[in-house]
Amino acid sequence: MASRRRILLLGGTGESRALAERLVTQDGVEVISSLAGRTEQPQAIPGSLRIGGFGGIDALARYLAEERIDLLVDATHPFAERISENAADACRRSGTPRLLLRRAPWQAVEGDRWISVADADAAAYAVPGLAERVFLSVGRQELAAFAPLVETWFLVRMVDGPRQALPLARCEVVLDRGPFEEEGERALLLEHRIGALVTRNSGGEATYPKIAVARALGLPVVMIDRPAFNAAETVTSVEDALAWIAART
Ligand SMILES: NC(=O)c1ccc[n+]([C@@H]2O[C@H](COP(=O)([O-])OP(=O)(O)OC[C@H]3O[C@@H](n4cnc5c(N)ncnc54)[C@H](OP(=O)(O)O)[C@@H]3O)[C@@H](O)[C@H]2O)c1
Repeated sequence: MASRRRILLLGGTGESRALAERLVTQDGVEVISSLAGRTEQPQAIPGSLRIGGFGGIDALARYLAEERIDLLVDATHPFAERISENAADACRRSGTPRLLLRRAPWQAVEGDRWISVADADAAAYAVPGLAERVFLSVGRQELAAFAPLVETWFLVRMVDGPRQALPLARCEVVLDRGPFEEEGERALLLEHRIGALVTRNSGGEATYPKIAVARALGLPVVMIDRPAFNAAETVTSVEDALAWIAART
């Protein structure tokens, strides 16, 4: 019998979990999901799981060789730039085929009041004058960009409570994990009298309801565009990722 193909799945997203769920039911493949270890209690993922950084490009290339990885699927979050760049370099060095599974970005539709910006610093620059109370839906590392806005009150949502004080003069933290529904997002925005939203263009359905609610309420949305990242082989759905893998197993 032919040996099973070993797939390293760089995860941390709903798509990576969905892909792992599909792959473990298939003969001929063995899936190892990899998480950075950011959330205290990650949701269950079927198949093998490793947690924690690899230690940079060299260490990841070494891991690919030592673990005899046949294929790498990078299904990390669109704003997790470093790991995607490291994976691209490590795969190039080791000759490991690599697929980028990246959900499509959201597109503005009629009624949206988006202000598109390139990064968190530009988003912070755009906020004053928009509203006094803002739902700040960005990554933990990006909060510091909003520290100078001492007049603005921010609502911040996180999966785990912050281990240290946030770098924001006026804010409230709510703990929650997606997927979210429109009804709950509307209640959250109304309860906190939110006048504007700052978010990253993550794409996908799980966090889109806040965008739909902002549109319905006529609120401006400061939309942080994705960092540019080029990959030769890219798909936007789990089904297409399965087809790519099937063609190589
Ligand atoms: N950025 C977000 O907003 C966001 C949102 C939802 C989920 N996530 C998930 O959270 C993880 C961390 O995000 P980030 O923005 O901190 O990433 P990042 O800046 O691209 O990565 C920082 C470092 O974390 C380690 N790392 C990241 N993802 C990893 C993975 N899947 N497996 C093993 N090591 C990983 C790597 O360490 P070494 O260099 O030591 O290998 C990497 O250099 C990602 O897996 C991403 O999919 C991120």
